[in-house]
Amino acid sequence: PIRGVIFDLDGVLTDTAEYHYRSWQRLADEEELPFDRDANEALRGVSRRESLMLIVGDRTYSEAQLHEMMERKNGYYVELIQTVSPHDLLPGALTLLEELRQAGIKTAIGSASKNARPVVEKLGIADQVDAIADGYSVEHPKPAPDLFLFAAQELGLDPGECVVFEDAAAGVEAALAAGMWAVGLGPEERVGAAHVVLPSLADMHWSAVQERVQQASH
Ligand code: BG6
Ligand code: MG
Repeated sequence: PIRGVIFDLDGVLTDTAEYHYRSWQRLADEEELPFDRDANEALRGVSRRESLMLIVGDRTYSEAQLHEMMERKNGYYVELIQTVSPHDLLPGALTLLEELRQAGIKTAIGSASKNARPVVEKLGIADQVDAIADGYSVEHPKPAPDLFLFAAQELGLDPGECVVFEDAAAGVEAALAAGMWAVGLGPEERVGAAHVVLPSLADMHWSAVQERVQQASH
């Protein structure tokens, strides 16, 4: 049976994926590195360092330069999340969290971001989840399964009892590697590897999601 749900944060519960993109775009423009919204698709769910490596490509930078660029991008991002409020929860997110609590299903955040905690607090859902796994929790980022396994452990659940909601290819891969059920949010091209693919959380009730996941397991 399914006993827990792990939510990715950026791009799943709130649209901070857009803020990550704008911050990288600003940095790339300043550094005159080629980058656009299309190229950003590969950065979804990917750690800060790995994202920068994808942007710089085969250009050579010193560790100090890389560090400075990561700090600069994070500064832009931190600036953008200052105004995040409960209004920024994506449609369907709050209803689903409430339904899960009603159904006795445990919930966790499983985000690669070191800014996940402040964002969760600004969204006003810190008390609605049972655990938060973030960019400080494990060493190996998504697509490694470590972050989701850590979240399951915090919930006291086995991986097979958990469903992961993800908007990123790297996140779906991590969920599958962890032996969990994966629900992908977004286009097939991006999250098609998930057991169940949905356009978004809007109008999505837990009973329907559960049914879809159970069908996928037959
Ligand atoms: C993920 C985002 O949640 O966190 C990525 O999808 C981001 O875009 C990653 O790079 C790391 O975030 P941060 O806040 O630690 O730089
Ligand atoms: Mg995401």
